[in-house]
Amino acid sequence: MKTIGILTSGGDAPGMNAAIRAVVRSAIYYGCKVYGINRGYKGLIEDDVQEMNLSSVGDIIHRGGTILKSSRCEEFKTEEGRKIAVKVLKKYGIDCLVVIGGDGSFNGASKLSELGFPAIGIPGTIDNDLAYTDYTIGYFTAIETVIDAIGKIRDTSSSHERVNIVEVMGRHCGDLALYSGLAGGAETIILPEHPESIEGICDRLETTKKRGKKHSIIVLAEGVGNAHEIGKQIAEKTGSDLRVTILGHVQRGGSPSAFDRILASKLGVRAVELLLDGKSARVVGVKDDKVIDMDIHEALAMKKEFDKYTYKMTKILSI
Ligand code: F6P
Repeated sequence: MKTIGILTSGGDAPGMNAAIRAVVRSAIYYGCKVYGINRGYKGLIEDDVQEMNLSSVGDIIHRGGTILKSSRCEEFKTEEGRKIAVKVLKKYGIDCLVVIGGDGSFNGASKLSELGFPAIGIPGTIDNDLAYTDYTIGYFTAIETVIDAIGKIRDTSSSHERVNIVEVMGRHCGDLALYSGLAGGAETIILPEHPESIEGICDRLETTKKRGKKHSIIVLAEGVGNAHEIGKQIAEKTGSDLRVTILGHVQRGGSPSAFDRILASKLGVRAVELLLDGKSARVVGVKDDKVIDMDIHEALAMKKEFDKYTYKMTKILSI
């Protein structure tokens, strides 16, 4: 019988609970013992661990956040910190670990596997910034949250005939901004992968103004720069009445969408099955609608391709 540890790490994402549930339930189904590690790698180093059973994950599939809590841990980045972590894992007889998180969390899992400790990563982040998988858990729920906000901002933008900048999370990745901008019908989308000059943005605003558009929504990915600074420059150049809304952590919360619950359930079960097959240092994901797994180092080395065609499409649609 294997003993599996599970933790969530880095920025939380809707659907992490559904993934925890899938890992715990499938592990117990296959006859394993499961330990939940609280507060990510930090909790691991601090020995914040408890055994989980079927009812520990009851009533959580629909809940945002993570019942295991999350953190970003500097100590785990040191060899010393990782050695303490392995000692704690051994103390509980844990043979392998499931890590739910983004690239930072996967780096931690890859370091553990280099120490000979089997680990599997499940992608959980609203950023959708992992190149090896088409989608990460939480991303589609975050898109829903952003388009809901854009819709509301559009109402007031139209009433006041303003330019409204909506700053969207995503770190250095523009996916959340691009796809929520597309779904929200933004007039302009500014992404780190496709920087635009202030002049270019202002020219577009002037063109749409001339054809009678009295208000405009600009979706700005946080990776581009300071939204207030960019807004000030646009307002000065165009004389527009402009407001900035930074959506912030509202994007990380909320009940996961059906898509994220399904994805989390599939990836959670696959992660456990890989561990039972004796696999280590792998990540699970989805490619062309199929659940896949891949070497963790290979996955982390992949560069995400910018979706130029979708970006062009947003330009076509906001002409
Ligand atoms: O990685 C998820 C994310 O929400 C990013 O989009 C954002 O830049 C960052 O985390 C914010 O981190 P924190 O919650 O630590 O402020």
